[in-house]
Amino acid sequence: MAELHVVDHPLVQHKLTIMRKKGTSTGSFRRLLKEISLLLCYEVTRDLELTKETIETPLEEMEAPVLAGKKLVFASILRAGNGLLEGMLDLVPSARVAHVGLYRDHDTLQPIEYYFKAPEDLGDRLVIVVDPMLATANSATAAIDKLKERGATNIRFLCLLAAPEGIKSFQERQPDVPIFTAAVDDHLNEKGYIVPGLGDAGDRMYGTK
Ligand code: PRP
Ligand code: URA
Repeated sequence: MAELHVVDHPLVQHKLTIMRKKGTSTGSFRRLLKEISLLLCYEVTRDLELTKETIETPLEEMEAPVLAGKKLVFASILRAGNGLLEGMLDLVPSARVAHVGLYRDHDTLQPIEYYFKAPEDLGDRLVIVVDPMLATANSATAAIDKLKERGATNIRFLCLLAAPEGIKSFQERQPDVPIFTAAVDDHLNEKGYIVPGLGDAGDRMYGTK
């Protein structure tokens, strides 16, 4: 089974607490999500392979480290995934981007797909799937199944908050995909919301409720 990484950096935890507060404004919520995404991106890419390149500094030639392999792919699960995507692209501007449009049906909690666009050569690249919330894991699993269908083999999943039920289900259905999250909350409620959580991430990001 793939690993679960909890990013417990104090800055991440502090910012997440402000995001959870119900009084935090839409603007602050979006800004904090972007700030946290920079820190999470740092962790999810910590073990990327390096190779050496010959460069010239003003003083002499040297063998210097650069990222090995093809550019990364960030796959955003719409819409809330875009809140993480933005900051990650600031840190890795050359990354390719996949968009997976999904929303959860409120009654069945099953994902409904409405859009998919990804680079063609997914099989040659590390694909980092981003979505702030891992609740039932139905959305993340559907997005990853679709990316695998299109050739992706080396995948990581990055979120902000996860429910224990979602982690269990995800690890059963995607045993080869490591999860990176800032926190694991207590449980899912009867409506499939993470408790204590932060509410509906998409609505809080875009002010739609
Ligand atoms: C939220 C969230 C995840 C999904 C998680 O999206 O961003 O995609 O729910 O829930 P799950 O693990 O139970 O599938 P939502 O369906 O609200 O769509 P939105 O991003 O368009 O608001
Ligand atoms: N999606 C959200 O945005 N929030 C939750 O708590 C669960 C799913």
